[in-house]
Amino acid sequence: MADSGPQRLPQIDRSSSLNLIRFSLHLMKPARGLVAGATIALLIGTALQLVFPFFVGMLIDSTLASRAATATLGAEIPEWASNINHVALVLLAVAMAILVCVYMDTAWFMRAGELALRELRQRTFERIVRLPMQFHASVRAADLASRVQSDLAVLQEFLINDARMGLRYGALMTGGFVLMTVTSPLLAVTLGVLIPPVVAIGIKSGRAIARFSKQAQERLGDSAVIVDESLQAITSVKAFANESVETQRYATAQERYFEVVVANSRRRAIFLAFILCAVFCSTVFMMWFGSRQIQLGNLTPGEFTRFMFYLAFTGSAMGTVAESFSRMKRAQGAFERTQEILNVEPETSAATLSTDTPPLTGNVRFEQVSFAYPAREDAPVLRNIDLTVAAGETIALVGPSGAGKSTLISLLLRFFEPDAGTLFFDNIRSSEIPLARLRAQMALVPQEIILFGCSLMDNIRYGNPAASDEATMEAARQAHLHDFITSLPEGYQTRAGDRGTQLSGGQRQRIAIARAILRAPRILILDEATSALDSESEAMVHESMRALFAERTSFIIAHRLSTVRLASRIVVVRDGRIADQGTHDELIERDGFYRDLWNQR
Ligand SMILES: Nc1ncnc2c1ncn2[C@@H]1O[C@H](COP(=O)(O)OP(=O)(O)OP(=O)(O)O)[C@@H](O)[C@H]1O
Ligand SMILES: [Mg+2]
Repeated sequence: MADSGPQRLPQIDRSSSLNLIRFSLHLMKPARGLVAGATIALLIGTALQLVFPFFVGMLIDSTLASRAATATLGAEIPEWASNINHVALVLLAVAMAILVCVYMDTAWFMRAGELALRELRQRTFERIVRLPMQFHASVRAADLASRVQSDLAVLQEFLINDARMGLRYGALMTGGFVLMTVTSPLLAVTLGVLIPPVVAIGIKSGRAIARFSKQAQERLGDSAVIVDESLQAITSVKAFANESVETQRYATAQERYFEVVVANSRRRAIFLAFILCAVFCSTVFMMWFGSRQIQLGNLTPGEFTRFMFYLAFTGSAMGTVAESFSRMKRAQGAFERTQEILNVEPETSAATLSTDTPPLTGNVRFEQVSFAYPAREDAPVLRNIDLTVAAGETIALVGPSGAGKSTLISLLLRFFEPDAGTLFFDNIRSSEIPLARLRAQMALVPQEIILFGCSLMDNIRYGNPAASDEATMEAARQAHLHDFITSLPEGYQTRAGDRGTQLSGGQRQRIAIARAILRAPRILILDEATSALDSESEAMVHESMRALFAERTSFIIAHRLSTVRLASRIVVVRDGRIADQGTHDELIERDGFYRDLWNQR
C-alpha cells in the first residue's frame, strides 16, 4: 500500500504497550526498592559508559599533543591529563565502576522480574481454577494450560531480560545521540540524514516479525495439545495401536509450526543483516567524512575518536533497541492473552445472603429447568425438569447413557446455571446462596476420579482438611479401603497421583467415597460411584452407604439395580426429561425404562 504524505513512523498501539509496562510495574510493586536501585545503577552505568569515550579521546589528543606542537592540534587538554598515565588510570577506574553497575542492575532487575513473575503465575493459576465450569467446558483444558505456560514464558523473558535491555540500550542510544551532537554538530547532522529511513524500515520489519511470532506461538500450542492428549489417553492410543496415527497428527502440527517459524527466521535474519549492513555502511561513510574534517582542521583526532565511539555505541544499541521492541510486541501478545484470562469473570454469584447463612437442611427443587451446554447451544440437554426432593430423601437417577443425568447434578452443584427455570435449596433461590457456602455442604463422587499428587491420607481428607488421622481412617474403613491401604508398604502415606502409586478404578472410587463420608455433607451426590466395584465389594460398601444416606439428601446415579434399590425414590431421565418417577414397586407396575431394566436383570 503506497503511503503518500511525509515520512511518518507507524502508529504504535501505545495505550496497550503502556498497559503492559504499567502492569509490569504493578507486579513489581512489592520489589519497588529493588527496581528503583536497579534503575539508578543502570542509568549510572550507562552514563559512565558514555563518559568512557571522552577520556579515550583525551588520551589520544594528549598523546598527539606531547609529540606535535599543541597549537597546531587545537585541542584543549587540562593540566592533569598531559600525563597519559593519569588518563589511563581514570579510564581503568571508569571501567571498574561500569562493571559494578552492570552487576547490580542485572542482579536486581532479574530478581524483581522473577518476583513479579511468581506473583503473575500465582494470580493466573488462581484465576484459572476459579473460572466457571462454563469456561472450562468451552476451552480445551490442555490448550489452556499450554497457552498459559508459553505466554508466561514469554512474559518471563520480557520481565527479566528484554525490559532491562531495552532500558539500558535505549538510554545508551539517547545519550550517544546527545553526545555526538555535542562533540561534533556537523558530523551529527550528517548522520541525522542517514538514520531515519533505517529506523523506519527496522520498525516495519519488527512488527511483521512480531505478527508471525504470535502465529508461530499459536501453532506450537496446537502441537503441545496433541502431546498432552496422547499422553493423557495413552492407554487408548496403545490399545487401538494408534501410535502412528498420533505421530502423524503430531508431525502435521509440527509441519504447520515449522512453515511459519522458518519463514520468520528468514525474516529475522534479513532484518539483522540489514541492520548490520546499515551500521557498517554508515560507519565507513562517517570515517571518510570525519577524516576529511580532520584534514580541514575542523576536528581533532581525539574528538573524532570520541564521536566514532558514540556512533558505535548508538549503532549497536539501535539493533538491540529494535530487537527489544519486537520482543516487547511479542510480550504484548502474551500479555493480552493472559489479561483475557485474568479478565474473565470468576465464578461469583449475585448472592444476596451473607456468607454465614444457616446450614441447608437439604430440600432441593428444580422448577422448569432447561439447559444446553455452551459448546452446543442448539442441543438442549435438559428440558423442563421439575423435581422436588425433600430433606433426607435418597433419589436414584436412572436412564440411558447420554440422557442428562450427570448434567442434572452439574446444575445441582451449580457448575452451570440453567438457561431457563430455577433451582431452589430450602425454598431459597440458588442464585441467592453464596457459591462457596452452597458447595461446602455438598459432596460429589464423580464418574471419573483422579487422585491428587499427595498421600492417600490427604487425598481422603481433600474434602475436610481439618479431619484427624483417626477420623480419616474411620472413613476409609467404612469405604472398605482400610485393609488395602494398610497392606501398602507406606500405608496411608503412599503417594497417589500421576507420579505416585496407581490405584485401580474401584480403589479410586472407594477413596472418593471415603472422601464423601469424611466430609459429611448435607447433600451427597454419587455419579456411578460403585460402577467399578465387584459385587462383593459393592455389597460391603452398600452397608456403609445405607448409614450415609440415612442422614442426608442423596442423589445416586446408577445403572446397577443393586445400587438403585438403596434409594427411596427412583427418577427416570430420558432425552433430558423426567420420564417417570416413583418407588421401585410403583415403577415395576408401569411399562417403561425401569421395568425393562428390572426384567433384564
Ligand atoms: N461439556 C459438554 N459439552 C457439550 N455437551 C455435553 C457436555 N457434557 C455432556 N454433554 C452432552 O450432554 C448430554 C447428556 O450428557 P450427560 O453426561 O448428562 O449424560 P449421562 O446421562 O450422565 O450419561 P452417562 O450415563 O453415559 O454418564 C450428552 O448428549 C452429552 O453429549
Ligand atoms: Mg454421566
